[in-house]
Amino acid sequence: MSVALALPADGTLIACDRNAEWPAIGQPYWEAAGVADRIDLRIGKAVETLDGLIKDGRAGTFDFAFIDGDKKNYGVYYEQCLTLVRTNGLILIDNVLWDGRLIDSADDDRATNAIRDLNEKIRDDERVFPSMLPIGDGLTILRKLP
Ligand SMILES: C[S@@+](CC[C@H](N)C(=O)[O-])C[C@H]1O[C@@H](n2cnc3c(N)ncnc32)[C@H](O)[C@@H]1O
Repeated sequence: MSVALALPADGTLIACDRNAEWPAIGQPYWEAAGVADRIDLRIGKAVETLDGLIKDGRAGTFDFAFIDGDKKNYGVYYEQCLTLVRTNGLILIDNVLWDGRLIDSADDDRATNAIRDLNEKIRDDERVFPSMLPIGDGLTILRKLP
């Protein structure tokens, strides 16, 4: 809803969730805030939704993407969003510190490893200009470079 409120009247955002239950909590507030018509909710696996957008020719047409879904797919979401966002567009990625679990060498969880791998990839990725903010659970903000 915060993103929708920041949009111009003709702006839209696509919200992905595989579970309708959680967006249903927010929907009455989207209505009350007058932004429900700017939020295009797509229920389904986000990998498939984003893939569909790419196949529909939407590559390079988004100003902004926020990644906060299942962590095991973070690397896939990153590549898909990098395709969908325009040059100089922004991608935000939540939970990049993962409650400190990344530096626990005994933690071999799939989600933990996916975030580790993505952080290292972004550090060395010349396609983006990243900044990792140590607020909350860690938030990476990156700009897609020309
Ligand atoms: C941390 S919550 C997102 C919170 C949201 N960013 C907000 O600020 O309200 C993660 C969400 O990802 C959804 N999710 C998990 N796996 C998914 C998948 N494979 N595809 C799409 N959504 C998924 C969950 O249902 C959950 O609602």
